[in-house]
Amino acid sequence: MLANFAVNKKGHLTWGGADTVELAKEYGTPLYVIDEDMLRQRATDFQKAMKKYFPQGEVIYAGKALFCQALCDIVNELGLSLDVVSGGELYVALKSGYPPEKIYFHGNNKSLDELKMALNNNVGTIVVDNWFELNNLEELAKEMQKKPRIYLRIAPGIEAHTHVHIQTGQEDSKFGFTKDDALLAAKKASLSPNLDLKGLHCHVGSQIVNLESFTITAKVMSEIKAKIEREISKEIEELDLGGGLGIQYLPEDPYISPDEFVKAISLGLTDSNIKLRVEPGRYLIGQAGITLYTIGSKKEIPGLRTYVAVDGGMTDNPRVALYDAKYHAVLANKPQKEKTDLVSIAGKCCESGDMLVWDIMLPHIEPGDILAVFSTGAYNYSMASNYNLLPRPAMIFVRDGIPRMVVRRETYEDLLLRDIK
Ligand code: LLP
Repeated sequence: MLANFAVNKKGHLTWGGADTVELAKEYGTPLYVIDEDMLRQRATDFQKAMKKYFPQGEVIYAGKALFCQALCDIVNELGLSLDVVSGGELYVALKSGYPPEKIYFHGNNKSLDELKMALNNNVGTIVVDNWFELNNLEELAKEMQKKPRIYLRIAPGIEAHTHVHIQTGQEDSKFGFTKDDALLAAKKASLSPNLDLKGLHCHVGSQIVNLESFTITAKVMSEIKAKIEREISKEIEELDLGGGLGIQYLPEDPYISPDEFVKAISLGLTDSNIKLRVEPGRYLIGQAGITLYTIGSKKEIPGLRTYVAVDGGMTDNPRVALYDAKYHAVLANKPQKEKTDLVSIAGKCCESGDMLVWDIMLPHIEPGDILAVFSTGAYNYSMASNYNLLPRPAMIFVRDGIPRMVVRRETYEDLLLRDIK
């Protein structure tokens, strides 16, 4: 996929059928461009895989990967449920008209206001992370005469093979109940007249390409579930194993299909009738997105390195600085020209760590060329910042070659909206 990108008659890279050079001209750069068809295809593939192995299963889109109203609409249209992690995400989802009963509310420190907001809006499921939240929610539910459906998040003590900053299932983690506490929490929840304990949840990490991690997680969680069920003498119907399926950032990275992912889970679960939930974010949206930049300055250090700078950087993609992430890129205006220059792509922030790609071969590169960086659909826009007061990019969704703007570019005036003098 990363290696066989599409090119039109003009020799320009196309994305979702649209000429990326034209998109850059029309909407400016940096620009996030999402191939809506790829997103839809990947979501459908996930749902098919789920139905094949777990007929009662459900796929939940993890909104933190990329969140905006247009995306909520697509998620809704495709029949996916939605995972939100903050009052902000919940607010945008509700504003978009997404049905609250299909929302799963995550987070390790939900405030009272956020819990109230969830109860007021009849959010479908609240994934309770800890004692503080369990107690707060029980009190609030009583006060408000509600009985929310809840899951308990558990840290199952699994170290997924991924970057340490995105490992979340290990015992030493800020997320979830320890195994022992989960048992006590389940007892408390199952006895409460104001809580409806429906499921257990875990998420062991992100960008995981080792399928065995998912099998082990499924096995460990089903054992924990059985133990809790015995203790509370009650069946727990639903099991949510989170997201985490890795994607391809470089052409040589392996592709792992949703079928392989769900199959790996099925190897760890004996009951195929279980109401399994999974929460993919990155898989659904990551590879559907690219970012377009305009090339600016160049610095050649003879015998050492050539830096080429673009008009964005760690503000629109902090993943290189944060996780040492690797990206693949081409020159969108001449992707098929012979690659002659070894360069490193820098951002425009006042920080040496502001790099997008170290050491990549590209055709002869000149100011004004358009660079397309692949696999930026997940955790780029959603993690963008205004560092150095760079306005955040616009985002375009393309379907059948037709672009539409779903997030407009920030303006300098926007930078003053909350600035009071
Ligand atoms: N469910 C829960 C509870 C999660 O915490 C996450 C991701 C997901 C689902 C979705 O995981 P995915 O399928 O996207 O791997 N900013 C980091 C990733 C942080 C992931 C946080 N949680 C990055 O850029 O790599």
